[in-house]
Amino acid sequence: MNDMTPTREQREAKLEGMGCKRKRVEDARFTQGKGNYVDDLKLPGMLHGDFVRSPHAHARVKSINGEEALKVPGVLAVITAETLKTVNLAWMPTLAGDVQMVLADGKVLFQNQEVAFVVATDRYAADDGINKVVVEYEPLPPLIDPFKAMDADAPVLREDLAGKTTGAHGPRKHHNHIFEWTVGDKDLTDAAFKKADVTIKEMISYHRTHPSPLETCQCVCSFDKIKGELSIWGTFQAPHVIRTVVALIAKIPEHKIHVISPDVGGGFGNKVGAYPGYICAAVASIVTGKPVKWVEDRIENLTATSFARDYHMTTEIASTKDGKVTGLRVHVLADHGAFDACADPSKWPAGFFNIVTGSYDFPVAHLSVDGIYTNKAPGGVAYRCSFRVTEAAYCIERGMDILAQKLGMDPAELRLRNFIKAEQFPYHSALGWEYDSGDYHTAMKKMMETVDYAGLRKEQAAQRAAFKRGETREIMGLGVSFFTEIVGAGPSKNCDILGIAMFDSCEIRLHPTGAGIARVGTKSTGQGHETTWAQIIATEIGIPADDIMVEEGNTDTAPYGLGTYGSRSTPVAGAAIAMAARKIKAKAQMIAAYRLEVHEGDLEWDIDGFRVKGLPEKSMSMKDICWAAYNSVPPGMEPGLEAVSYYDPPNMTYPFGAYICVMNIDVDTGVYKIRRFYALDDCGTRINPMIIEGQVHGGLTEAFAIAMGQEIRYDDDGNVVTGSFMDFFMPTAVETPHWETDFTVTPSPHHPIGAKGVGESPNVGGVPAFSNAVNDAFSFLGSTHIQMPHDYWRNWRAAKNLGVFA
Ligand code: CDP
Repeated sequence: MNDMTPTREQREAKLEGMGCKRKRVEDARFTQGKGNYVDDLKLPGMLHGDFVRSPHAHARVKSINGEEALKVPGVLAVITAETLKTVNLAWMPTLAGDVQMVLADGKVLFQNQEVAFVVATDRYAADDGINKVVVEYEPLPPLIDPFKAMDADAPVLREDLAGKTTGAHGPRKHHNHIFEWTVGDKDLTDAAFKKADVTIKEMISYHRTHPSPLETCQCVCSFDKIKGELSIWGTFQAPHVIRTVVALIAKIPEHKIHVISPDVGGGFGNKVGAYPGYICAAVASIVTGKPVKWVEDRIENLTATSFARDYHMTTEIASTKDGKVTGLRVHVLADHGAFDACADPSKWPAGFFNIVTGSYDFPVAHLSVDGIYTNKAPGGVAYRCSFRVTEAAYCIERGMDILAQKLGMDPAELRLRNFIKAEQFPYHSALGWEYDSGDYHTAMKKMMETVDYAGLRKEQAAQRAAFKRGETREIMGLGVSFFTEIVGAGPSKNCDILGIAMFDSCEIRLHPTGAGIARVGTKSTGQGHETTWAQIIATEIGIPADDIMVEEGNTDTAPYGLGTYGSRSTPVAGAAIAMAARKIKAKAQMIAAYRLEVHEGDLEWDIDGFRVKGLPEKSMSMKDICWAAYNSVPPGMEPGLEAVSYYDPPNMTYPFGAYICVMNIDVDTGVYKIRRFYALDDCGTRINPMIIEGQVHGGLTEAFAIAMGQEIRYDDDGNVVTGSFMDFFMPTAVETPHWETDFTVTPSPHHPIGAKGVGESPNVGGVPAFSNAVNDAFSFLGSTHIQMPHDYWRNWRAAKNLGVFA
């Protein structure tokens, strides 16, 4: 080895593979305003569509008159349900097995529901046209309170379902009932409650909120009449699924549909489903023969596209008197709005809510969920969470704190006493999951030591005493949260969308000079896939990450995949990437053996190539193997170096984390101060620690927003009262606390590189940490549970209700 020969460390560093804090390659364009988003697209002759929307939450539509609108200069068409009926598209299927009106058909069922679609030469003309469409409504009584949905005299919302006693998920109990879903052993659970020393019961609501990505939902549809081909550029988290849905409902052959997701400015679940805007833009393009663009504004996004949460969870825990949990019973009233348009895998009407036993060793549990219709926007998407996991984590983490309070035990101590132990993995939960790996005690203890938990509790005791002596008006709360996520939907044995198994895919093609392209079935909406996917390949096959281009989002070029949501990208597509890379490596080994004139078994992998065992100077780099793949492969072998993998995971992955929030609240104003927030995450093998940290910061900021103020709220008439960023809490850098992050590493035993997802963990674990901090602060004044969101006014009201001003 001469001085110029790179060391092993230098060779490894050059790859920028897994574990490296590689800078995000996509940021070069994002930070310079050079991203290419749907609204940047301008096609020749492109038209613009916009919606007439309902001012009422529930009304009969007596007539729609577009005559005056058509007189507005530039307005070309006013599309209504009657127009859509001619092409059988007035209603569309939802991912949850329900149907949804594309445009109001006889009735409107929520405020801002789409009533007519005005097509014009520009957006301004379309807007002017909207104001000239005359719609005659006959208001009907709105149903807003989910707890009244199944009253005998509740208004009938879905007249189209009259007489239907069965829905996509079984029997319906009432005209506003969608489904009942039960899991677990009821008898054993009831018996555990009968025997219990201590029980708690609390109705814990997770309010309605919205993913509100920076870029709203939008598309451009362009139908080529000559070729019979439809091209759709859209903000899609799952472009392949959109293509299949369009093929099924528009009856256009799937190979004649081109779906392209260009750069997408955040998704968070909002961009998984299909919306009326997509259908109307496609129909308008087919009718006019011109490209048609539809772009939502902020109010439309918040009030009409998919909401999240709205779960009302009656939670009961049984325990021994020394704090060992013996049973969990949860009933959920799930408010799905006007149509059941939840984006869950088909067989899971309440998503993966049955992860609600959390990180604790419950011997028995029982869960029942009733889904109901109300006069609110449809949706129920996984807002930065894996299909209702965040509701489940909130439910159990509040429940454990309430139990600790009743037992007079420290909440951290109660958790430590009930954690699933490291040696119990793989662990079978009472509600049917097999947790792959975990070391909860280590994570919790690391958190407690780092923040000096015992010291904080002492400080809190002193503060409480001072409050009682009248020396301070501030109360202090410690919000402990320990969550287990379930991500990586998913195994074909239990996860599909519209009958398509939820695998994911990767195709890698290496070029002669040792560079290549990887195409993946996922679609980054800001998570940095272009950076991290190349890092997996770099480690697996020794080609520097900089020499691998990653491409996603084009259904013509990417292999079929189910897209990005529910932190599934790393658990599923990340595995497909590693498997495709391993196929390439296997072929590369044969080529190297042939060229080095040894048997394949005589070769060993060495960072960026193969070397002959015992003869390290006899080696061939991956770069040289790429060249050889195109000119001197072994006889009988096909030239080229490429591979594709469709990966069907054997199980989900179960990331976890220990979080704590330290908060002070001024009882006179309700103003809170987040003094400290510490988040320890375990997502198994870490691909890019810097990106993980960014994901955690983003997720915690969303958790902070949701817990402390963000809400889609309706008044009694069904008007959305938080329909713009004036009212819907969107934290800026000013409000956002400082985040401390930490980690442990417990690899997934079944994932090829041991990685679990991370993007959603901070939202799942963060919300209970904030809420537990507020509740812990008020608990010594006699409070058991205060519902979210915990904005200043509600904190002040809580203090008032607890007699602080008496
Ligand atoms: O599906 P989504 O991309 O939203 O979530 P994810 O799989 O949790 O990945 C989010 C980002 O974090 C991606 O860029 C991943 O590659 C990265 N990540 C990582 O570096 N290491 C992990 N163990 C998990 C995710």
